[in-house]
Amino acid sequence: MEFSSAEIQNEASRLFTKLKKVDWTMEKCAEIAHLTLEINKLKKEKNAVILAHSYQSPEIMYGIGDYLGDSYGLSIKAKNTEADIIVFCSVHFMAETAKILNPKKEVRVPTIAGCSLAESIKPNDIKKLRKEHPNAGVICYVNTTAEVKAECDACCTSANALKIIEGMPQNELIFVPDEFMAKNLQPLTNKKLIPWKGRCIVHQEFSDESVRQVKSMYPEAKILVHSECAPNVVKESDLMGSTDDILKYVFNSDANQFMLVTECGIKDRVKTEFIGKEVLGSCILCPYMKQITLEDVLTCLKSPSSEQIIDLPEDVIKRAKKSIDKMVEITEKN
Ligand code: 13P
Ligand code: SF4
Repeated sequence: MEFSSAEIQNEASRLFTKLKKVDWTMEKCAEIAHLTLEINKLKKEKNAVILAHSYQSPEIMYGIGDYLGDSYGLSIKAKNTEADIIVFCSVHFMAETAKILNPKKEVRVPTIAGCSLAESIKPNDIKKLRKEHPNAGVICYVNTTAEVKAECDACCTSANALKIIEGMPQNELIFVPDEFMAKNLQPLTNKKLIPWKGRCIVHQEFSDESVRQVKSMYPEAKILVHSECAPNVVKESDLMGSTDDILKYVFNSDANQFMLVTECGIKDRVKTEFIGKEVLGSCILCPYMKQITLEDVLTCLKSPSSEQIIDLPEDVIKRAKKSIDKMVEITEKN
């Protein structure tokens, strides 16, 4: 697609109003302007919606994203969308979840990006756990494949995990695959949680020592920690929650300094959207989330490869939907 220099200039200015807040120059915005223009044009022509997780790169979130959010919020957007095509800029399991919730839509994913948690458990592991704990219910974190979800009783995200635990009929619950999340939730419930051994390769890297260092230098700072972090890190925090919980806390807080113990996308969102809020300490990039480029999104809209279109067997959709529907039912009820 060809664009005039005036169109490129206007688009670069539009991008710059947002991206300058994360240190982009006007020149850098001008370099990607033809891509964002083409993607946004194709999006309208094809009646597509672009959902972007908050860990995506700033040019994806602010250049082409229609909705930004956490895994729960974006699932609900996918469930209710009027668009014909859902382009899910995130890791593969989130796009699968969108397909399960809205199977009549075409769901596309720009790259086949995995996730260390989703890769840590297979359907047979669930079957084995059920045999070992015959009275326990099974909750799977959303960071699992559709095939794993199909073996579970309910799904959850970091935004609603405790509600799902409390809303299940059993007092004993297998909670997979995030070991740290299960350990962080255990003190908050009287139910017995049986964890798996999965870890997020991003959140496991944060240390309690680095949090204490920031606290000693900035005693007024609020420490906001994703629930995939280790329990000793969570112990140092003012809030443990999902990416959206962290953003809501910053938005509603009178404090001006925050340590965001999570992936760097959340820092980008705070810097871009919340003026006057200072972000302290370092963040870590998720190599899976950050795989997606504007070029991938363009191909995915224009002429997707078969791998970019989510295709799941009917019976997997049917069984995994039960787990996801249970999560939505319990979440919306409470
Ligand atoms: P959220 O549900 O908080 O967006 O988390 C998803 C995720 O992968 C965090 O690492
Ligand atoms: Fe998976 Fe961790 Fe990346 Fe989230 S941040 S997608 S849990 S590897």
